[in-house]
Amino acid sequence: MKNYSLLITSIIWLLIWHPYNGKCQVTVDTKGYPDHIILNVTEDLTSTVAVNWRTDETQPTSKIQLATENSSANIGHDCKEFIALSEPLHYKGKSHYYHSFTLDGLAEGVMYVYRVGEGDKWSEWINFKTINSKSPTFKFLYFGDVQTNIKSLWSRVARQAVKTMPDAQVVLYAGDIVNRGNNLDEWEDWFTATANMHQSIPILAAAGNHDHGDDDAGNYGISAYWNKQFNLPLNGIDGLKETSYYIDINDVKFVIVNTELLEEYESIKQNQLKWLQAILSANTQKWTILVMHHPIYSTKKNRDNKELRELIKPLIDRYNVDLVLQGHDHTYARGKDKIPMEDNKISNATYVVTVSGPKLSEVLRADWMDKSYSFTQLFHAVEITDNELTFSAYKSSGELADKFVISKSNGINTIIE
Ligand SMILES: [Fe+2]
Repeated sequence: MKNYSLLITSIIWLLIWHPYNGKCQVTVDTKGYPDHIILNVTEDLTSTVAVNWRTDETQPTSKIQLATENSSANIGHDCKEFIALSEPLHYKGKSHYYHSFTLDGLAEGVMYVYRVGEGDKWSEWINFKTINSKSPTFKFLYFGDVQTNIKSLWSRVARQAVKTMPDAQVVLYAGDIVNRGNNLDEWEDWFTATANMHQSIPILAAAGNHDHGDDDAGNYGISAYWNKQFNLPLNGIDGLKETSYYIDINDVKFVIVNTELLEEYESIKQNQLKWLQAILSANTQKWTILVMHHPIYSTKKNRDNKELRELIKPLIDRYNVDLVLQGHDHTYARGKDKIPMEDNKISNATYVVTVSGPKLSEVLRADWMDKSYSFTQLFHAVEITDNELTFSAYKSSGELADKFVISKSNGINTIIE
């Protein structure tokens, strides 16, 4: 009797939901709608934010509308509208238009809403909040290499990170966001995996070796998609626009270095080092964070970035960088007081190497490390309040893996565990 009922139920279900049943055929017209919507950091997030999005080949132009969030259904009635800068990209048999616009003149600490599109094809209204320069606390998330199985195995790390720090104001990547920088499918996976995180929280990204590749002419450089889909600050040197830059957020300076092309081209090496020195020597911010893909101290067997260390560590030491955030070695390790220094000084800088994606390695233990993890997908929540920087390492499960505080007193950093 039970089997008979099951058979009848199955037949009814098939009659209703059979794929050839016309009632079930839904054709969704996605042509011309924007996707890959993302906020980017700017030099001043209290009054500006940079927005990127993409449309297919049927929609060469696009607009952005902006209003103040007032918790009513009428937000669109009193909006400002701007025409985006639009440019095509025809690459490897696929054609899209990439759109960008920098919203400026914003009030600090205010929640706005925006949408992008044109005609009858718009995104949803999306809210975001500008940085408040008077806020005592600044919070950000930090991911190491994403790189592989982005949709299937990295997305849960991003999901847990936003649950853990829902009020993060920036999301920072230390490079290798994808495995093959010129493979659009991998960027599609990353945009899918980040869901709507970057529609509301600006990205601050360093580029890794895997985010670079050969162009059609065989020239090695940043991914063909990077400068199109991002709208990062242009204050780096020629040849490294949007992969090497700096920003200030309240009393924190972030400096992002392109270590891949620094190692690849001699002229870029010299120009970027001069640029880095100029920025660090003129820096008056209380906190300085250096972001780069290749680590000064490697955590993986048979790896050692000796030249990079010899070029950049003297600048870190001379200009009192507080925190160096890195990736590349697919493990987690951090250290400060046992970092090798001349004249038995104690390093002011804390060095962190980490990984968020599923390509994982074993740590090669070294004296400089205070804590390490092998074969663990991690993300980091960082909170800076006045003279304290609190760094938390979480497993993808949400379990706390490591936590330390950098306490600053008279310019001297002390680690509190
Ligand atoms: Fe890498």
